[in-house]
Amino acid sequence: MEAADVEKDLTGVLFTEAQIQAKLGEMAAQIEADYEGRDLLMVGVLRGAVMVMADLARGLGRHVEMDWMAVSSYGSGTKSSGVVRILKDLDTDISGRHVLVVDEIIDTGLTLSWLISNLSSRRPASVEIATLLRKPDALAMPVEPKYIGWDIANEFVVGYGLDYDERFRNLRDIATLAPHVYGG
Ligand code: IMP
Ligand code: MG
Repeated sequence: MEAADVEKDLTGVLFTEAQIQAKLGEMAAQIEADYEGRDLLMVGVLRGAVMVMADLARGLGRHVEMDWMAVSSYGSGTKSSGVVRILKDLDTDISGRHVLVVDEIIDTGLTLSWLISNLSSRRPASVEIATLLRKPDALAMPVEPKYIGWDIANEFVVGYGLDYDERFRNLRDIATLAPHVYGG
């Protein structure tokens, strides 16, 4: 889906498909250099990280394993529920593995800080975070992503995996949502 297809629901395009791909290419190059000579298991956080994982992993000129976790963070609105629970756990035993958690956005950081401590208790060789976007509130949490695409302002964004009420995930770009969509 193109931004033009849902023009009325958006206030603007923040990052185009081309900008996203260029940024992921830079992140992939960095990851490739950092993990040289080590095995790598990328763990995507469902469902939002699907697009980031697909393009970031394909940007790597090396082998990588992929696994997925689903945790509850948001309900169907735009506010964090504060409740984290595992909806789908990993299929992989991560003990002794180099784990890179892949996420599309860190907002409060609540979900990821909980996830990182959960994964750390499984004795991996290392755990790092790659996120395409980070919002300002995340700075208050003890979550330090090693790879960050962009820091953005505190506004609700959709597209490239990011949803509002399960819609807009298939938008190619990342865009700001018009207030009328969420009743603002
Ligand atoms: P956190 O626990 O507050 O960091 O929440 C992170 C999760 O909330 C992300 O993985 C997204 O699923 C969702 N989220 C946070 N901000 C946005 C946004 O602007 N648009 C869409 N989803 C968001
Ligand atoms: Mg998410």
